[in-house]
Amino acid sequence: METRPNGPETAGTTAHPNRRRVMRTAGAAGTVAVIGSSVAFTSACSSDEEESAPTKDANLPSSDVPVGSGTVIEDTYVVTQPKEGEFFAFSSVCTHQGCQVKRVTEEAIICPCHSSNFSVTTGEVLSGPAEEPLPQYEVTETGGTLTIKGR
Ligand code: FES
Repeated sequence: METRPNGPETAGTTAHPNRRRVMRTAGAAGTVAVIGSSVAFTSACSSDEEESAPTKDANLPSSDVPVGSGTVIEDTYVVTQPKEGEFFAFSSVCTHQGCQVKRVTEEAIICPCHSSNFSVTTGEVLSGPAEEPLPQYEVTETGGTLTIKGR
């Protein structure tokens, strides 16, 4: 598995099911596991939210999600931890035109394509052009492992 801490922002990335990339916005490299046989994959900049929404559960160490930031699991989820022990998970596919969100700050999940910003706690649009929030997913922590419940 390839990880990229604070890698360059590349709009329109297309992922392959056998080569999952995890991008971290801070901290050391970590691991993630997507549970199940497949995850919904789309090419970048698709605007069909239903097609791009992740459908499978995923696990990752909670230590992979920095406090006051987050971790992007490309083509599936973005997981944030605004305060220690408080985790939120959203689709990592921007609701504007389907690019991958790439960066998480203390307050916003940022899409590099047209600079939409989303709340790290609700997924709501903080600034457009996106008009719809990032779909939110249930995330639980057990013994240092986060489980994101897909749909
Ligand atoms: S695709 Fe994300 S802001 Fe346009």
